[in-house]
Amino acid sequence: MSTIDIVAWFVYLLAAVMFVIGLHFMNSPKSARKGNQISAAGMVIAVIMAFAHLFAAGFISSTAVIVLVAGVAVGGVAGVYSAKKVKMTDMPQLVSVFNTVGGGAAALVALNDILASAKTPDTVVLVTAGLGVLIGSVTFTGSLVAAGKLQGIIPGRPLALPAKNLWNLACAVLAVASAVMLVLRPEQRLLWSVLTALFALLYGLLFVFPIGGADMPVVISVLNACTGTAVAMSGLAIDNVALIIAGALVGAAGVTLSVLMAKAMNRPLSSVLLGGFGDSTSHDDADGPEGSMRETTADDVAVQLAYAQKVIFTPGFGLAQAQAQRELADLGELLKARGIEVLYAIHPVAGRMPGHMNVLLAEANVPYEELVDLDDINPQFPGASISLVVGANDVTNPAARKPGTAVSGMPILDVDKAQNVVVIKRGRGKGYAGIENELYFTPNTQMLFGDAKAELQAIIAAVKELDA
Ligand code: TAP
Repeated sequence: MSTIDIVAWFVYLLAAVMFVIGLHFMNSPKSARKGNQISAAGMVIAVIMAFAHLFAAGFISSTAVIVLVAGVAVGGVAGVYSAKKVKMTDMPQLVSVFNTVGGGAAALVALNDILASAKTPDTVVLVTAGLGVLIGSVTFTGSLVAAGKLQGIIPGRPLALPAKNLWNLACAVLAVASAVMLVLRPEQRLLWSVLTALFALLYGLLFVFPIGGADMPVVISVLNACTGTAVAMSGLAIDNVALIIAGALVGAAGVTLSVLMAKAMNRPLSSVLLGGFGDSTSHDDADGPEGSMRETTADDVAVQLAYAQKVIFTPGFGLAQAQAQRELADLGELLKARGIEVLYAIHPVAGRMPGHMNVLLAEANVPYEELVDLDDINPQFPGASISLVVGANDVTNPAARKPGTAVSGMPILDVDKAQNVVVIKRGRGKGYAGIENELYFTPNTQMLFGDAKAELQAIIAAVKELDA
């Protein structure tokens, strides 16, 4: 090992330690920003070291350096620009695009390691690089389709070929068989590595097209885990400790998150991945709730809130869409100043990304202790004078308690058990799962139709008026 190899090894290790520390800080919203910065600094150090290492070891020409610098510049600018510009509600698409890039890059690194040298790679390299090509390629096309679905470029509903499971199985078997052949017949490595990539790319398409509706967040998390695993495999193939640890962290975090999200939706991960759920086409509203909705006004809601003892706010995707988090926090402060107890009910899949409501409300400086998780808030609804639902729909839908609906089995926030329920939403739009919400037709629910921001502002003004 030369001196530069030893220095590089230690610098990569330092970068990997920074990823771990960064991840640790992401445990709490208060320190998450710092965690992100530490991890990003680790990545910058690793990239600079990779350059210095390759250049000092004479592995690359000066032309290659120009190409690499241009690649880093273009990628860096695109990354910073998209991360700064993206709306919070479009974050899942961005994560999916990053997964596409990560999976594709890992597959290319592994492919290069298999094919670049005239010498036959040893078995360990063939196995790890083969897995890098396989998993990275699945992630590439799978994430591309997922991003397209979330952005509305591809129809979001599940799209499946007849006998989809057979096609999926055939593609998966052929991709794995090609990877095995790559190890058994390294002298034909061009053929087998390309076939591995092609079958895996096809599998990625067939795997994600049939999944849709409310299952998409879990799929994105699974693909995120695949990106990490592909990166770790490529790291093993090229013996890069930073890639191995970073990939393993992303892989483990992605698997944990997928399992937690599937649990939050009360669905086995296997049934999400087999694509049976989210089929909004199979759940029409023929048996939807009957009755009429009772409308109310901002002034009336203000009076009810001002004389309540305990108020539970239930935010959902509509709060993010309206960017009304500050108004909600202001209303909370106003009510607390009147001696009213105020809590925020947080559903794990409310919004469009994990922790979406926590991030939004932290942005509005809502004290962390007031954000209460599903299990702890549900027993408190019967004691609440009012549950104010702001732009949440599926996560409050009592249809989840009955079999045969698109949200069956998903644990919900028991807002309907509060003494009174007020729902703010713009109109009769359905939630992500595409079904009607029977909460809106129950006798203790009143509907305040309008944009969440405008309605909250009107309520705040009316509460202030009561004090004047
Ligand atoms: P949704 O079920 O999507 O319902 C949001 C509601 O907000 C809609 O019914 C809409 O009704 C209303 N709305 C939209 N814009 C509004 C505005 N400007 N002002 C007021 N209301 C507005 O939201 P949810 O209850 O948070 O449930 C989340 C759903 O998304 C779940 O099905 C979940 O599985 C899925 N999902 C979750 C994630 C993660 S990880 N959190 C990611 C992707 C998908 P109107 O159109 O009538 O206003």
